[in-house]
Amino acid sequence: MRKIILIVSSVLILSSCTNSSPDDLIDDTPLPAQVTYEGQIKAIMTSQCLNCHNSNFASGNLNLENYTLVRASTENGNLIDRITRNVGDPLIMPQNGQLPQASINLIIQWQSDGFLEN
Ligand code: HEC
Repeated sequence: MRKIILIVSSVLILSSCTNSSPDDLIDDTPLPAQVTYEGQIKAIMTSQCLNCHNSNFASGNLNLENYTLVRASTENGNLIDRITRNVGDPLIMPQNGQLPQASINLIIQWQSDGFLEN
């Protein structure tokens, strides 16, 4: 009897962990009215990119430390190309995985809003 209770409760615990549906893959986080470098983009770069792309250690010869540099890499198409690659693509950035879809959306929105600084 104890065994059955154990099995039933493990099944219940496990099934509560896997409640993902296809809807979870669609990111509907609303975008802010205005996306700016100081408001959102800088924080994404700092937490996800600057480890490898700063003035002392610029992987691929790319420094993403300030507004002008991030803007240039977005304008030439490289930055968005790299962050929108599929997981597992050797060229995806950041190198260890994909940015959350909400961050990708913010960067694309920043570009279409005309690269506001603050
Ligand atoms: C763990 C280290 C690491 C992290 C974190 C990282 N990169 Fe990179 N990145 C590299 C390396 C190494 C290269 C050079 C090799 C290559 O081109 O793939 C590179 C190359 C690039 C390039 C191409 C070079 C160029 O001049 O266009 C872009 C664009 C880029 N990274 C953007 C980013 C962005 C944006 C982030 C954050 C979302 C990021 N990287 C995070 C290591 C990293």
